[in-house]
Amino acid sequence: MPDVEENDITREDLIKALNEDLSREYQAIIAYVNYSQVLKGAAYMNIADELEKHAEEELDHALQIANHVDYLGGMPSVVPKKVKTSEKAEEMLQFDLDNERETIRQYRRRVKQADALNEFAIAESIRGILVEEQDHLIALATALGIDPPNPGIAD
Ligand SMILES: [Fe+2]
Ligand SMILES: [Fe+2]
Repeated sequence: MPDVEENDITREDLIKALNEDLSREYQAIIAYVNYSQVLKGAAYMNIADELEKHAEEELDHALQIANHVDYLGGMPSVVPKKVKTSEKAEEMLQFDLDNERETIRQYRRRVKQADALNEFAIAESIRGILVEEQDHLIALATALGIDPPNPGIAD
């Protein structure tokens, strides 16, 4: 049985939440563009290449989410969430990991919300994005030498 929150969601709520997601995608694009070039050290060259690929995938996600906001009658956000910078490789990778965790938590909720509004195509698109975000999370955890954390699901 769907919970109360999903029953109560409106299209306006979904537009707002997707615009937050879009701002998070812009943040990810900027972070991956910066970190992929700033990251130094022989041990990190493979992951630097990987981060460049992430940047391109995040742009593709941003375009998909902007398309959904427009389709729902909203104006797609033009504002990224704040990007942290660091000169330290481990710190950069940790920032990315934290952002991917939050992104996955949010998209897991968004699939349920889109389903609740019978917007199954949006839910399907976000499921596809989730597959890539999970790959990003795994790549970053692997580079940090840790097990991928379980992001859970946003409230
Ligand atoms: Fe993304
Ligand atoms: Fe990502």
